[in-house]
Order: sequence, then structure tokens, then C-alpha cells
Amino acid sequence: MLLLKGRPLSKKVLQRASEEISASDAEPPGLAVVLVGNNPASETYVAYKQKACTKTGLKSTLIRLSDKISENDLLHEINSLNENRSIHGILCQLPLPDHISGSKVASAIDPEKDVDGFHPENVGKLWRGEDGLFPCTPSGIIALLKESEIRIDGANTVIVGRSNIVGKPMAALFLREHATVTLTHSHTTDLKSVTRRADILVVAMGRPGFITGEFVKQGATVIDVGISRTEDKGLAGDVDFDSVSRIAGAVTPVPGGVGPLTIAFLINNTLRSWRRTLKYVK
Ligand code: GUN
Repeated sequence: MLLLKGRPLSKKVLQRASEEISASDAEPPGLAVVLVGNNPASETYVAYKQKACTKTGLKSTLIRLSDKISENDLLHEINSLNENRSIHGILCQLPLPDHISGSKVASAIDPEKDVDGFHPENVGKLWRGEDGLFPCTPSGIIALLKESEIRIDGANTVIVGRSNIVGKPMAALFLREHATVTLTHSHTTDLKSVTRRADILVVAMGRPGFITGEFVKQGATVIDVGISRTEDKGLAGDVDFDSVSRIAGAVTPVPGGVGPLTIAFLINNTLRSWRRTLKYVK
């Protein structure tokens, strides 16, 4: 069984970004991270993102806002970041408080600075097979599969979870790579019989240990996107690693699997936005 670690590839991507930034005489890329409220998991993710920025030579700005902020005031904040020429990427950490529409926020971000790839224009480009900014976790998963020489073209891929952050964009990216795609969710009938057909199984459901060996075909590749805090303060994925690793051909660990790649591809997306502005200047 092959252990698919995300860190080596993440380091490679960040190293390449760092070299590109040092070689340029332009202002470094700027990433603005908007954090509304103080959700502990969001605090952790945002801290990781900022640390990666600093290490790679990007300028990261954290905009902390109260969870009582009105939707309108948040949209104004985003608008001023859209107009700020030293900011190349903007992301608003999710989840947002209930009184704020995540969909309105995604649509308010300038599509050229939309490093999460959640703006409808980028979602449209993703599904139409055009160039754009695409969600970081699914982009990282495609890169990890390619780096590990796991064939996507013609593969039967099954995704568990239909979120806008992972499941849906993962389906689109697999299609772009010529895979056959099945997108399953909480209403899927007989999930096990569907997942057992997967050559590549991506699990993003947020239910620790749910996917046991019984859900997996012999030799399949299993990508675990789930990350939940356990009672003893450890981290658990959606995949029951012990039973799945006895059947699968390759599995990502949690932590150290997909997580580091999400951050590396966030930086990658920010560099893409930055490069575009350099072209305008020159
Ligand atoms: N919360 C959990 N995952 C993500 C992500 O990829 N982007 C943002 N903005 N928030 C998240």
C-alpha cells in the first residue's frame, strides 16, 4: 500500500513559488484573508495560511471582523480589497455567521482575485473547461494523483460529499481530466455498492472513520479530505485508515495528506493572479 503524503509535493510547489517571487523585482504578491468571528477551526486554518505566505515571501493581511458585522459592511470591506492594487488574492474563511450569505460574499470578490475559486464566473469557467481560478483542495488532489502517477484518464472516480468547496469542483476537475465521475451524497442509495466501483475514491463528508474497508475496491486509491477533532484532541479523517489500508492500493493520511496541498494551491492561485497584474504593468 502506497501512503500518499501531501507534504513533499506541497513543499515543492511552495519552493517554486518562493523562487519566482525572489526572482521578480515587482512588489510581492499580496493575499488578504478575511476572518469573521473566531471559530477555533477557522483560526487554525487561517494561521496555517498566513505562515505559508510568510515563508514563501507573499505579503499576507488578516482582516479580523466581528461576527456581529452586517452583511453590507462585510461586502464593503471586500469591495475595498477588490480596489486595493497591492492585494492580488482575497479569501473569506468559511463558515460565515448565519445572517451572512456565503453566496453573496463569493459573488462580491473580484473574480480575478478569487483565490478560493468560489465566484460564479470561476465556477462557470471550471465546468466549461476554460482557464480560471479553481478551488484549492480539489486542485491539490489532482496534482497529488498526477505526481504519484495514478491514472485519472478513463478511471472510475467516486466522490462522497457534494459541497461547493470540495465535492462539486472535484467532479468538474475529474471530468476535465477525462475520468468517469459519480458524485454521491447523504441521499445516495446503497453508498457502499457505489464506492466499491471506484478506482479513485475521494471522501469529503465530515464523518470521522465512516469509510471502512467494506466501502473500498481492492487496489483502489482513497483520498481522505475529512478532518475532525477527536475527543482526545487528535485529528481524524473520514476514512478508517486501519481497515482501508489493508484493501486500498494507495491512501492519504490525516493529517499530512490533502491538508498541506490545499494551502500550497492557495499560494499557487495567488501567484496566478499576481502574474496577471505584472503583465499589465510591463
Ligand atoms: N473553510 C474550509 N475550507 C475552506 C476553503 O477552502 N476556503 C475557505 N475560504 N474557507 C474554508
